[in-house]
Amino acid sequence: MLKKDHNDLLTQTGPDTPFGRMFRCYWIPALLAEELPEPDCPPVRVKLLSERLIAFRDSDGRYGLMDEFCAHRGISLWFGRNEECGLRCPYHGWKYDVTGQCVDMPNEPEHSAFAKKVKLKSYPLVERGGVLWTYMGPAEQQPPLPEYEFATVPAPQTYTSKRFQECNWLQAMEGGIDSSHVSFLHRGDINTDPLFKGARGNQYNLGDLRPVFEVVESAGGLFIGARRNAENGHYYWRITQWVMPSYTIIPPRGTHSVHGHFWIPIDDENCWAWSFDYHPTRALTETELTAMRAGKGIHAKVDGNYRPLANKDNDYLMDRAAQKAGKTYSGIEGFAMQDASLQESMGPIIDRTKETLVSTDSGIIMARQKLLRAIKAFTEQGVVPPGVSLEHQRVRSAAVVLPPDQPFKDAAREALIVHPGVAPASV
Ligand code: FES
Ligand SMILES: [Fe+2]
Repeated sequence: MLKKDHNDLLTQTGPDTPFGRMFRCYWIPALLAEELPEPDCPPVRVKLLSERLIAFRDSDGRYGLMDEFCAHRGISLWFGRNEECGLRCPYHGWKYDVTGQCVDMPNEPEHSAFAKKVKLKSYPLVERGGVLWTYMGPAEQQPPLPEYEFATVPAPQTYTSKRFQECNWLQAMEGGIDSSHVSFLHRGDINTDPLFKGARGNQYNLGDLRPVFEVVESAGGLFIGARRNAENGHYYWRITQWVMPSYTIIPPRGTHSVHGHFWIPIDDENCWAWSFDYHPTRALTETELTAMRAGKGIHAKVDGNYRPLANKDNDYLMDRAAQKAGKTYSGIEGFAMQDASLQESMGPIIDRTKETLVSTDSGIIMARQKLLRAIKAFTEQGVVPPGVSLEHQRVRSAAVVLPPDQPFKDAAREALIVHPGVAPASV
């Protein structure tokens, strides 16, 4: 349970809110690189942290992200002409470069210098790992580019997708650190999904429905350890990483690729669920890539606007027969929409004053506390929040079987840090 003012604090990320200001300390994923595939391609509307922006790629291939609306009389520049190194407003021809600087004002006298004085708000937009990242905070505090492992391994080793989710970012993110739902909601898929099946760890997952959680603070967020019984008195540990504000890495399974998420607020009632799959030491296979593109694993089938084909307008294609037969536990197909359907069913912003939390929710409780502490320190003393540092970003999840007397965070210490070229610790 959370008091109302704390719930408001954690769910509001517009420009004039405390968390909104803190969220702007991080580089965040803004678009897939495929959305701006070539110079002078069509501009794309982008809404992030409640700000309406336009992204485009100029004739030289440079990326720009700026205020969606023309400084003259507020036309959406989505209608703009992307030509000759700038985006030109179709109403009276004002033209902007990738920094938002007005570079041409053809309806003004020829020698007017007024264009120089007009500049739209703009943010950097940089490609890394197939994702276009932006930083929306004060320019003088811009941190170095992000180094999450999925974005730094060679391109053949990584795949990222995104999907529109119709609820506040926090309830989506809380699903990502809630390891106990996997044995219920996803139980029908663990042994059948091509990106999950066959791992030894799956049997521990399905065989012990009452995991014991041990959550330990990390520098950038939390290690969320879920312990289940293995054979001979040993424990099967699944250790999820959460790095502030919203990066999570799911523990690996067998030799499968490693997956995880980013949840990025569009506004307070919608978010982008970013889903990545990568392997630290090998290229993804054609079979894996085909499955990912087909919406298997944690990915989803989406339309041209990245909205899932199974969505709340069609009851997520609920299949009661599959539910009854146990083919899927909830009747919804696929990990991504199993999660999203339930998270959206909470309403756009869940009222956390009415929850009943139990011991398996300890990861969620500690994440909220860590966020609240960070917002306070940032707001009152300007303390840079956890997760901005590159060291905090260079972490991994792990799945390990350990003797009962070994604390997971000591026994798996090295497995929880990125070691380039070293395979993940996985069962
Ligand atoms: S509204 Fe854009 S140039 Fe006039
Ligand atoms: Fe899930």
